[in-house]
Amino acid sequence: MSQPRDILITSALPYANGPIHIGHLVEYIQTDIWARFQKMRGHNCWFVCADDAHGTPIMLRARQEGIAPEDLIARVAEEHQADFAAFRVGFDNYHSTHSTENQHYSALIYERNRDAGHIAKRTITQAYDPVERMFLPDRFIKGECPKCGAPDQYGDNCEACGASYSPADLKNPRSAVSGAVPEQRESDHYFFRLGDFEEMLKGWTRGGGLQKEVANKLDEWFDAGLQEWDISRDAPYFGFEIPDHPGKFFYVWLDAPIGYMASFQNLCDKTEGLDFDRFWGQDSDAELYHFIGKDIIYFHALFFPAMLHGAGFRTPSAIFAHGFLTVDGQKMSKSRGTFIKARTYLDHLNPEYLRYYFAAKLGSGVDDIDLNLEDFAARVNADLVGKVVNIASRCAGFIGKRFDGRLSASLAEPQLFADFIAAGESIAAAYERREFSRAVREIMALADRANQYIDEKAPWVIAKQEGRDAELQDICSMGINLFRVLVGYLRPILPGTAADSEAFLRIEPLTWDALAEPLLGHEIDRFKPLMTRVDPKQIEAMLEASKEDLSAAAGTPVTTSEPNLHLTRDPIAEVVDYETFAKTDLRVALIREAKRVEGADKLLQLTLDLGGETRNVFAGIRSAYDPKDLEGRLTVMVANLAPRKMRFGVSEGMVLAAGPGGKDLFILNPDSGAEPGMKVK
Ligand code: MSP
Ligand code: ZN
Repeated sequence: MSQPRDILITSALPYANGPIHIGHLVEYIQTDIWARFQKMRGHNCWFVCADDAHGTPIMLRARQEGIAPEDLIARVAEEHQADFAAFRVGFDNYHSTHSTENQHYSALIYERNRDAGHIAKRTITQAYDPVERMFLPDRFIKGECPKCGAPDQYGDNCEACGASYSPADLKNPRSAVSGAVPEQRESDHYFFRLGDFEEMLKGWTRGGGLQKEVANKLDEWFDAGLQEWDISRDAPYFGFEIPDHPGKFFYVWLDAPIGYMASFQNLCDKTEGLDFDRFWGQDSDAELYHFIGKDIIYFHALFFPAMLHGAGFRTPSAIFAHGFLTVDGQKMSKSRGTFIKARTYLDHLNPEYLRYYFAAKLGSGVDDIDLNLEDFAARVNADLVGKVVNIASRCAGFIGKRFDGRLSASLAEPQLFADFIAAGESIAAAYERREFSRAVREIMALADRANQYIDEKAPWVIAKQEGRDAELQDICSMGINLFRVLVGYLRPILPGTAADSEAFLRIEPLTWDALAEPLLGHEIDRFKPLMTRVDPKQIEAMLEASKEDLSAAAGTPVTTSEPNLHLTRDPIAEVVDYETFAKTDLRVALIREAKRVEGADKLLQLTLDLGGETRNVFAGIRSAYDPKDLEGRLTVMVANLAPRKMRFGVSEGMVLAAGPGGKDLFILNPDSGAEPGMKVK
């Protein structure tokens, strides 16, 4: 083995206001596999992480729950760590950005940059909620899309039509916190002058450590010009107060990446001989890698290295960005049950399956990766259960029953074993390059060879023949030795299965170097099944439970109300068959315009947009609705009702509303995500 390397690895710090889900796990599992691989290779490797505990969403979430933010983040920290432990993500340290270490380094890095002239002060105008008395981040302003009119759109882009705009362009803006109409107010803000670092960042980019896609992104950003970055927020804010500026706080994204340093400092304080400067000092030649999702490249590849450099710390050796998880080819979706929390997964399936599946799909690029649930079950069953575990289960029984658990004193097929060891170099190289899918392919090719060997030798036949005991023991010992090497190669991916296998083989935790030494004359334990097959029913149950999570989380829905008289007054009508019902064409419609009708005190005239054509409809809902409140809303209409000539014009359909009348009329509202023109069926 060559010289051990000093390596510090991080995963992005998950926000402390929500649970870990399987999308997050793409990152944490990927990083963990790489960290475990480096450790197995004998390197001096450390893997740290923390909760990202600051910011407005966390402050508001705590407020909503009626608890202090400190209590919220303490609870979430426990949940996150329990989830990570269950998935065997083996952090060497898990800390929090709300920590003394982080406060120290955030202040230090800010002050050094300030003293070097990299911080500017400017007055900006920003939306302000006069009821909550707070400035509103973009995503806490809601209103109607200036382009398509879709209601309830957040901040700066429309989920209905995809338009992007400035929050100031939203029609009828409202604070998402209090519902108040936001005011525009001025406030002093502090800016990090990113442009000061252009040359340094360009040099860093060209250093060769970045993925091609990331380097290209950076070039685009350089071409667009590096903007000053607003690093301050006004009180009330959950974060660190800026030194010398009472009432001003560091924006969460300033102290978040510094949380990597804080977590590592916290680890150093607990670990004899581990030196912070060895990894973060200006002249450090230790390796420093940040695994992140592609959505947060800007922060990690521009702001963070610039701030570090400006404060006299080393910059990262590389950023390893990955793509996003889709499930069955689509974005994770709460309604389809594919927004799967780590905990929900664990309630139904073995974490080793997911680690294996992700590894089998992961490359070193930033492509999105798809969890295809059918493929997931097939692959785990075929590869892990059908190939790898099968080798041990076919050989271990004979060794236990016929030879008291003792393996042969020599290898029956030294060349085959040597081939397995020789393959290790290429497998290690694939791991090193983060080409996990390639490593998996090569390991599975070896598993096929091991199974072929056993098939050819057919120990179950030999076992029935007199006088062939030595041969039987040799074949099965050979099989067990091949299994051991495979377990070693898979160990970064399957730490749980590896630990169970090591216990069964009665061996020390495997290192890469130890693999070349076969087990000879060694006594092993009784074989216990190492892994069971994935049952599609478990997947079904997991999806079902993920759907349930949604209804439980949907806030305070109307639970069954008091008994009332609606059914008595309006008894349920006689049964119709489906064909009769289906003749009625119901459509989602956007209320583009609503106005009073001269001379008709019950009616509103609505212009309904079906996403391509509009309809003029007179609706008897004036007693219950102010026309202004209807514009921009989605509702449901009968689209194929015969037009009706009225005194004021032709009504070309009907909107649906419930209730007895007067003020008690309630038009229907599709769930968010519905689009004009969609058929209701
Ligand atoms: N708190 C910030 C990171 C601060 S790092 C100094 C954050 N948190 S997050 O909880 O939203 O995401 C944590 C990591 O998980 C990010 O790297 C993010 O890209 C990744 N992922 C979140 N959802 C994901 C998928 N659906 N798929 C793959 N990775 C995903 O961002
Ligand atoms: Zn829109």
